[in-house]
Amino acid sequence: MKYPWFKSLHNSSLFSKNIIQSVKNKKMTMGYKSYELENRIKKILNVKYVVLTTSGTSALMMATLASEIKSGDIVVAPNLTWVATTNPARIMGGKFILVDTKKYSQQVDFNELNQKIMKYRPKLVYLVHLNGKPTYNKDFDKLKKKYKFFVIEDAAQAFLSKRNSYSSCGTKHDVGCFSLSITKPIHMIYGGFCTTNSKKIADKLISIRNNGVNSKPENARLEIASSMGLNLKPSDVHSAVGLENLNNISFNKNHLRKLHNFYNKYLKNNKIKFLNLQGKGITPCYNEAIIDNRNNFINFCNKNSIGLHLGIRCLSETNIKHIKDNFQNSIYLSKNLVRLPSGPGYKVNEIKEVIKILNKY
Ligand SMILES: Cc1ncc(COP(=O)(O)O)c(C=O)c1O
Repeated sequence: MKYPWFKSLHNSSLFSKNIIQSVKNKKMTMGYKSYELENRIKKILNVKYVVLTTSGTSALMMATLASEIKSGDIVVAPNLTWVATTNPARIMGGKFILVDTKKYSQQVDFNELNQKIMKYRPKLVYLVHLNGKPTYNKDFDKLKKKYKFFVIEDAAQAFLSKRNSYSSCGTKHDVGCFSLSITKPIHMIYGGFCTTNSKKIADKLISIRNNGVNSKPENARLEIASSMGLNLKPSDVHSAVGLENLNNISFNKNHLRKLHNFYNKYLKNNKIKFLNLQGKGITPCYNEAIIDNRNNFINFCNKNSIGLHLGIRCLSETNIKHIKDNFQNSIYLSKNLVRLPSGPGYKVNEIKEVIKILNKY
């Protein structure tokens, strides 16, 4: 494929250098580099606690365990998201209420979400900031205050997006979960982290990451498991790569925005509805579009060596048990959304070539 759906920035020599260093340090998981990475992210996001882990999925697992939901508890989630958002609560026996998106938008419909919160009184709600779009709502905040449900922000696609001029996306509610996998604006090849401003929650997350062994050093030495947990500690080699890649933040942020604006300006084809993300602080992870009769478009792109990612499917289309409802907006998106070539590794000229081809469709 001449134009793969995602191109990240690479520096492979750096990877081998760090493997040797981590082996010499004899601390392959949660070593010096991992703590350094946590501290750097803390400053970047202006948040009190960062708990690094092996993936965005692990971060969601840790956050959901920390919510302490029990089997049969009501969980509210958007219908359009990656299955990783809700799998942990499924494993824990949550009973799902799903919420549709707004028309032609990946963002959850807050009118419907807030109504369902009032009707079903959930114990846990997931908010998902798809493609770096901050997903917040004042009435939702009031309901959270009133009913005191736990909120997990899935910010897997939103590391470089701001909520407002002072705060970052994914740092407002109980726990934020981020991915640092290779198809994200900043990566550590494979990794992720949780953010929180609560010491109590941070302590829980740290012990969940270490098989339930309490974060206090004396307990860690004696290996007394005081809660449920798993081994979700990240490898120090990956953390070292993450640290190096953090130096690209400013380039990647500006470059991703530039490529997104290029698509928006020069993609002139009535059959391809580009989803332009408005907003000053937004860093789009991907360049996405809606295309009716997507299969014809997929064939066209295949012939022209353009890679596509077929986006995120609706949870209601999977075998997740949920209260049946009408999800027409999200199902429409799930069937017609595509991710066009994206990522900080793309040069402007390559994206210009892609757009030129797409304009002929
Ligand atoms: C919305 C969303 N949530 C969770 C995840 C899981 O992250 P990871 O791939 O790092 O496990 C992803 C991955 O892309 C995602 O897009």
